[in-house]
Amino acid sequence: MDILRVELEEVREQEREHAEQQRNLELELLKVTRISGEEIQKLTDKLRKEEDRRRALFSQVQKLRGAFRVMCRIRPVSSGELLKYKLDSGELHDRPAKLTIIEDTSKPWREETTPSKYQFERVFTPEESNADVFSEISEFVQSVVDGKNACIFCYGQSGTGKTYTMSNLEDVENREEGIDYESDGIVPRVRTMIFREKSRLEELGYDMSLAGCCYEIYDNELRLLKADGKEKKAISINSRTVEEHDGLITLDSSRDFDALIEVGMKNRHFGATKLNDNSSRSHFVISLETKIRWKGSSNVVREGLLNLVDLAGSERTHQAGTIGAKFEEGRNINTSLTQLNKVFIDLAAGRRPAYNENILTRFLRRSLERDCMTLMLLMITPLKSHWSATKHTLQVAMDVQSAKKADPPNRNTKVTIARSSSSKLPKVPQTPRSKR
Ligand SMILES: Nc1ncnc2c1ncn2[C@@H]1O[C@H](COP(=O)(O)OP(=O)(O)OP(=O)(O)O)[C@@H](O)[C@H]1O
Ligand SMILES: [Mg+2]
Repeated sequence: MDILRVELEEVREQEREHAEQQRNLELELLKVTRISGEEIQKLTDKLRKEEDRRRALFSQVQKLRGAFRVMCRIRPVSSGELLKYKLDSGELHDRPAKLTIIEDTSKPWREETTPSKYQFERVFTPEESNADVFSEISEFVQSVVDGKNACIFCYGQSGTGKTYTMSNLEDVENREEGIDYESDGIVPRVRTMIFREKSRLEELGYDMSLAGCCYEIYDNELRLLKADGKEKKAISINSRTVEEHDGLITLDSSRDFDALIEVGMKNRHFGATKLNDNSSRSHFVISLETKIRWKGSSNVVREGLLNLVDLAGSERTHQAGTIGAKFEEGRNINTSLTQLNKVFIDLAAGRRPAYNENILTRFLRRSLERDCMTLMLLMITPLKSHWSATKHTLQVAMDVQSAKKADPPNRNTKVTIARSSSSKLPKVPQTPRSKR
């Protein structure tokens, strides 16, 4: 572990130095208004070389960090009896990474004799904000811009903060353009970061295009949440890719991005249960594809794919208080999550998982294979009354952490889950944005 820490630190240090050099070169380039075209060309070439070296070092850091990465977030709660727990830093950095649930002598934990211990790459405390979470995971987004595939998925019991972490939008009515607010979730921050990167790359002579679409998995069906209104088109999926569809939308500006997400969020299924007033009743996926070309050329030099997955939460019927259609929804959600857990158990044991048994695992398959960086964000509640369910999700996260990645069936195939010629975004009616 010590060797890994030193190696990781060394590479990160080199990466920081290169980033610094690159920034200096960029500044130099901006200053030179009166020098010859030849000199500008020389500086631009040097800058591009630095960019290539930065990408190579960055990629090395990501490889050292492992196949499946897991971070855990403990949500804040304002009432109810809490579990006693302790946080410690891990070996790789000084931030919390070890979680110990301390033995409790009161019922129903009397039988537990030893504390439950868990270790993840990072554990976020209830006091930490969405901004803190993003500062740890933004490197996944950077990797996608650098031409890699990545998947970030939020996992956990219903009501633990998955949708809040993924999609929260602070101060919907009075937002200022172009800035991230403290409690903004991953999705709005990804938007800011990607468009900032787009501008930076433009200065280096590249052209970056972005396209995206939203899906939900509801009632054992994969549905494309299209920009043209209420239509929820079911699309078929085979074992490797989502079949071609025309849902990929070109996103030229932040406004296009917001419109896509707004339609997705409006059309996905939410419903009230006893665990959560606004519970996700489907698994929701935002898929973003980046393509980088030299300015004026049609050849793609790098392409990346980012899947942002907000899973529906596992729920125990007696706690969720669901009946009728909601009970059915809950059953479908639990069944698909159980299948996903089985996939993780198989991957941890080095077995070949049965991806095809469920639409969720079939869909996520390519996000779990070797050519994709995968991050699980496990959400938990510190409420004592939920400990049994929490313990189960912590165990799933441990399985994910020890899972090994399998090669994709054809190493030359991209992890493309939506392949189509992307279309321009149709106009979306100007309604106030929903909070989540
Ligand atoms: N870290 C947090 N800080 C502030 N509020 C939070 C936090 N986490 C969750 N909440 C609040 O808790 C409630 C439930 O969160 P959320 O809907 O994100 O849960 P979920 O895990 O997506 O549940 P489900 O599986 O039912 O969809 C929301 O009102 C949300 O704003
Ligand atoms: Mg949710």
